[in-house]
Amino acid sequence: MLKTLLMTGAAGGVGTALRPMLRELAETVVLSDMADISDVQPHEQFKRCDLSDARGVDDLLEGVDGVIHLGGISVERPFDLIVQGNVVGMYNLYEAARRHSRPRVIFASSNHVVGFYRRDERLDNQVVPRPDSLYGVSKVFGEAIASLYFDKFGIETLSVRIGSCFAKPANPRMLATWLSSRDMLSLCARAFAAPRIGHTVVYGASDNEEQWWDNGNAAFLGWRPKDSSEQWRAEILASLGPEDPANPATLYQGGGFVCGEHPANL
Ligand SMILES: NC(=O)c1ccc[n+]([C@@H]2O[C@H](COP(=O)([O-])OP(=O)(O)OC[C@H]3O[C@@H](n4cnc5c(N)ncnc54)[C@H](O)[C@@H]3O)[C@@H](O)[C@H]2O)c1
Repeated sequence: MLKTLLMTGAAGGVGTALRPMLRELAETVVLSDMADISDVQPHEQFKRCDLSDARGVDDLLEGVDGVIHLGGISVERPFDLIVQGNVVGMYNLYEAARRHSRPRVIFASSNHVVGFYRRDERLDNQVVPRPDSLYGVSKVFGEAIASLYFDKFGIETLSVRIGSCFAKPANPRMLATWLSSRDMLSLCARAFAAPRIGHTVVYGASDNEEQWWDNGNAAFLGWRPKDSSEQWRAEILASLGPEDPANPATLYQGGGFVCGEHPANL
């Protein structure tokens, strides 16, 4: 059990879904986001902070013994926005962690690190990144800084290449990539409990029937996802129909991210 867990990006979709379960991991939970959180519970504290503010982030890490880092830009956006949230923000977080007690970090990386691999390729955590967006590139940077700060300063990180962490899958692609918040929580629990994780990359997908990713190299975590997207397959295929196999969004793992507009126009 952690004494004080920091969760950044706590006002977002994944953070909101994880929040009610975090009592299982920590006595006190420090929630942070640049957006407001109003319904703070007795075991929680809220600290508003923009991740690009180095001093503010340094203050967040005070007295923290574990971090779930969800904060940042979570889709394709113009480069400047991504740099502030996901590049400067990651640097600030790891610098603050280094200056304080070097807590273990769960980093919300993304499947978009490898989005330009085809869906019929099964990937392990050693494949060379093939990002599908500037957003994906920023997550490659995030994994790289996590690796550096372990090798140089001993800060351990689990980089979770999250598939699709929503209440339920919304399209055929998500039948493979869906990750329930319950399975995300159990992955965080394993990462905090393991004796040593160094810097490990793991793919975040539930126990779905269709699987694109091989987590064999992270088996030492003992993580067993329990949920499955299968219960929604019939409903999704009935409402959306089969996918067009010639569409790049169907061919590649990153889905629509591989063929989006140039980010400067977003
Ligand atoms: N939801 C998914 O399926 C999924 C898939 C892959 C990766 N991820 C990653 O998981 C994390 C959480 O995803 P989400 O779906 O909850 O995203 P989200 O966009 O709902 O939440 C992100 C939160 O980060 C905050 N934020 C953005 N820039 C910030 C900054 N500069 N300083 C402080 N806070 C900032 C936002 O206010 C927001 O509340 C993100 O890092 C995302 O890239 C999510």
